[in-house]
Amino acid sequence: MWYWIVMAVLVIGCIALLSGTFFSIKKNKAEEAAKRAEARKKKRKKPADAEEAQQPGDRRKRADGRPQSSQGAENGRQQYAQARREEARRAQAEQRKEQKKRRQWKVILEDLDSWTKYSFIFYSNIRIGMSTAEIDEIVYRFTTEHGGIPAPLNYQGFPKSVCTSLNNEICHGIPDENIMIQDGDIINVDVSTILNGYFSDASRMFKMGNVSERAERLVRVTEECVQRGLAAAKPWGHLGDIADAINTHAQANGYSVVEEIGGHGIGLEFHEDPFVSYVTPKGSEMLLVPGMMFTIEPMINEGSPDFFVDEDNDWTVYTIDDGLSAQIEYMVLVKEDGVEVLTK
Ligand code: MF3
Ligand code: CO
Repeated sequence: MWYWIVMAVLVIGCIALLSGTFFSIKKNKAEEAAKRAEARKKKRKKPADAEEAQQPGDRRKRADGRPQSSQGAENGRQQYAQARREEARRAQAEQRKEQKKRRQWKVILEDLDSWTKYSFIFYSNIRIGMSTAEIDEIVYRFTTEHGGIPAPLNYQGFPKSVCTSLNNEICHGIPDENIMIQDGDIINVDVSTILNGYFSDASRMFKMGNVSERAERLVRVTEECVQRGLAAAKPWGHLGDIADAINTHAQANGYSVVEEIGGHGIGLEFHEDPFVSYVTPKGSEMLLVPGMMFTIEPMINEGSPDFFVDEDNDWTVYTIDDGLSAQIEYMVLVKEDGVEVLTK
C-alpha cells in the first residue's frame, strides 16, 4: 500500500516539474519574440536621413556596390555622387595650386628681370683707377635704393656686398679700398641680390683698358664655354651635359676648369642643392627638371685648376700657379620648353 502512495507522489511530482519547465521555456520564447518585434518596430521608425548615423561597417559594405535592399541602393547612389563631388573638389584644388605656382614663377621672373636691368647700370661705372671698395659702394647703394639686399653682405662672414676678383684671383675677392683697378686688368664682378625674398646671382668679366692678348683670349673662351654650357642645357637632360660642353671647350683651348668650386641651386636660398660641377661627364648628375633654378658659373684657368685660399681673409681664392683665371655666371630656370637665362 505504501508503495503505491510513494509511486503516485513521485509520478505527480515529475509531471509537475516537467510541465513547469515546459511553461517557463515557452514563456522565455514568447518574451524573446516580443523583444524582436519591438526592435523591428524601432528600426522601421528611424527617419530616412538616419543613414548618416550608420556604423562605418555598414557604409563600407554598401560602398562596394552590392546593396541588399532598396535602401542600400539609395545609399550606394548617394555615396557614388559624394565620391564624384570629392574627386571634382580635389581636381579643382590641384588646379588652383598649379595656378598659384605659375603666378609665383611670374613674380620671380619679373623681379629678377628688373634686378638684372639694375645690375648693368653700375657695370658701366667701373673705371681704371677706382678701388674695388668703390665698386662695393655702388652695388650696396644701388641694391638698397631699389629695395634689395646684397646677398653676400654678412653671408657666412663675408664682409662686403659684392665679390671682385682680379687676374689670378679665381673668385670671392673681397672689395678693398687699397686694391686699385689698373690698366690691363681683367676683373670679375659677382653680384648677388635678395629681392622680395628671392635670390639672384650673376657675374661678368671686365677688361680694363689695354689687356694682353692672353687675357683677352681667356675671357673670350670663358664666354664661349658658358654659351656652350647654356646650349647643352635642356629640360630632362642632365647637369653633366652642361659640364661636358664647358670642359670640352676649355680643354680644346688649352685651359682647365676648377673642380672643387662650382655652381649651385638658387631660389629661396643663396646656395641650394645641387652642387653644379663643370667637369662631370655628359649624361651624369642631376636631371634637369622644369622648375629648377641654378647657376652656370665655370671658373676657367690658364694653367692648373688647383687653387689656394687667402690665409688672412679666408675668402679670396687664387690660382696655385699664379696663372690668370676668368669666370662668368648666369642663373637659369629650367622650363618645360627650354632653359631660360634669368640674368642676361
Ligand atoms: N656667385 C658666388 C658664389 O655662388 C657668390 C659668392 S658670394 C659670397 O659662390 F659671399 F659667398 F662670397
Ligand atoms: Co653663384
